[in-house]
Amino acid sequence: ESSKYRLLENQSLRPLRRLPDALVIGVKKSGTRALLEFLRIHPDVRAAGSEVHFFDKYYHRGFAWYRKKMPPTLDGQITMEKTPSYFITKEVPLRVKQMNPKTKLLIVVRDPVTRAISDYTQAASKKKNRNGMKSFECLAFVKDTGFSVVDTTWGPVRIGVYARHLSKWLKHFPLERMLFVSGERLIADPALEMARVQDFLGLKRVITEKHFYFNATKGFPCLMKSEGRPTPHCLGKTKGRNHPYIDAQIVKRLRDFYRPFNYRFYQMTGMNFGWP
Ligand code: A3P
Repeated sequence: ESSKYRLLENQSLRPLRRLPDALVIGVKKSGTRALLEFLRIHPDVRAAGSEVHFFDKYYHRGFAWYRKKMPPTLDGQITMEKTPSYFITKEVPLRVKQMNPKTKLLIVVRDPVTRAISDYTQAASKKKNRNGMKSFECLAFVKDTGFSVVDTTWGPVRIGVYARHLSKWLKHFPLERMLFVSGERLIADPALEMARVQDFLGLKRVITEKHFYFNATKGFPCLMKSEGRPTPHCLGKTKGRNHPYIDAQIVKRLRDFYRPFNYRFYQMTGMNFGWP
């Protein structure tokens, strides 16, 4: 009798809110929402639905506040959240380490040129007055240099220098605690990429080919069903936007700019992402 009650006490059969075991820390516009929504299919994963911004914006509110933002979980379930700005905010690595040095870090990355255009497209879509928005070319290069000097202070350009941001994280976390997810492969072969993710998180491979179908209208993989929805559906219309046409010369100059940083990133991660 008494051992039965001890089990109930220790093993908490009641769902509890816990601090996260794993975080999707970035990178903005690389497929972070897709990764989180795919992960949420897994019965052993529970994730906060919206971006919590604890480690960058609301750190002063304390860990009790953060824990309350987390969904209730049972023993054995993984608690997660995704806030893509964590990757590029310099205070965040130490703060995450202080919470739990064993935290698993997921980082989705995508060709930084496409990522910058995607970032710009998102910013433009939020502007009420479209004409008030400068062109991508004008913003990506330093004024009066004839589109030759890349403006590294512009957010959409700066965020794509992944090696620079990663070096800050590597001061606090070993590479083994990180998984780099290819944003391109998450689109081309979601099941393959999700197998890597599940292995990294120590989860059974529950998410497989069966969960995905390619929606030709959307042009992206979509889900057959998910936790809350039993019928086929795609991500919302803010995911998979049409990008503006950017002159090939402009694209080439940006590729040339990123190439050395991309190689450095491949060296640091031991992965070749194959960006052009
Ligand atoms: P675009 O809208 O520029 O195509 P994030 O969620 O980090 O903001 O990333 C958004 C990007 O996720 C989209 O950028 C899109 O390319 C990519 N993505 C990856 N898988 C997707 C999917 N299954 N459905 C829609 N977008 C997806």
